[in-house]
Amino acid sequence: MNYTYLDSLATYGVGGAHPGGLQLTKQLLAREKVNRKSAILDVGCGTGQTAAYIFRQYQCYVTALDNNQVMVDKAIQRFRSLHLPIKVVKGQTEHLPFKNETFDFILSESVTAFTNIPVSLSEYKRVLKPNGVLLAIEMTAEPLPFTKKEKQFICGFYGVSDVLTETEWRYHFLKSGFRQVKIKKHKHHFVPQDVMYANDFMLSNQIHEKHYEILEQHQQIVSKYKDKLNYRVYRCTV
Ligand SMILES: C[S@@+](CC[C@H](N)C(=O)[O-])C[C@H]1O[C@@H](n2cnc3c(N)ncnc32)[C@H](O)[C@@H]1O
Repeated sequence: MNYTYLDSLATYGVGGAHPGGLQLTKQLLAREKVNRKSAILDVGCGTGQTAAYIFRQYQCYVTALDNNQVMVDKAIQRFRSLHLPIKVVKGQTEHLPFKNETFDFILSESVTAFTNIPVSLSEYKRVLKPNGVLLAIEMTAEPLPFTKKEKQFICGFYGVSDVLTETEWRYHFLKSGFRQVKIKKHKHHFVPQDVMYANDFMLSNQIHEKHYEILEQHQQIVSKYKDKLNYRVYRCTV
C-alpha cells in the first residue's frame, strides 16, 4: 500500500495541520468582520478543529468540506461530541456542491496547494458572495529557486503538481477573478507549530508504522528546505 502524506495526517487525525496552527487561524479571523449572520466554508477541513473554533467563537453558519472519508468521519465525530451544528460535506474543492454566492468567507488552510489550483480557485470565487473573502494559508516557494531534482522530490512527497511562488499564487488568484490579493509573510516558519507538535490528534484504531515515517519525513523536509519552502497568508476579495 502506498500511503500519501495526506493519508498519514488523516490516520493520525492531526488537528490544525497547517503552518501557524489554530493560533494563526484565530489571529486572521479576529481581523475580519465575522458576525452571527456570516456563512463560512472551511475547505479541506481535516478533523474540523478550525470549524469547531469558528462556531464556538462566532455562532455563525459553518460548513466544513473535505474529500477524505477518514477526515470527514473524524470531523463529524468532533462536532457530534461537542454538540456543534456544523454542516459536514464530503466533496472536492474542484467541484463545490454549493450554489453561486453562498458564503461570506472561505478558509483554505493548507489545502488548495494540494488540489487543482486554478479549478479550485474558480470554484471559491463562484461560491463567495460579492465582497466575500478568501483566507488561504498555503505552502509557498521562496524566491531562492529549487533545483529541478528538489522540486520533483517535494512534489512527489506531497502529491502536488507544483510548489508556487508568491508571484505565481497572486497570478492564479487574479486570473480566477479575485479583485484584490493581499499577501503576508508571517514570522513563524513552518516548523514550531507543525504536525509533529500539534496537540490535537484523533487517532485511527490501526496505524501502520509507515504513517509515522511519512510524518517524520515531512518534518525532515521542512527543516532541510527551510530557506526555500515556506508559506504565506493570502487574503483575496471578490
Ligand atoms: C494539510 S491538510 C489540512 C487540514 C485542515 N485544513 C487543517 O488545517 O487541519 C489538507 C486537507 O485538505 C484535504 N484535501 C486535499 N485535497 C482536497 C480536495 N481536492 N478537495 C477537498 N479536500 C481536499 C485533505 O483531505 C486534508 O484534510
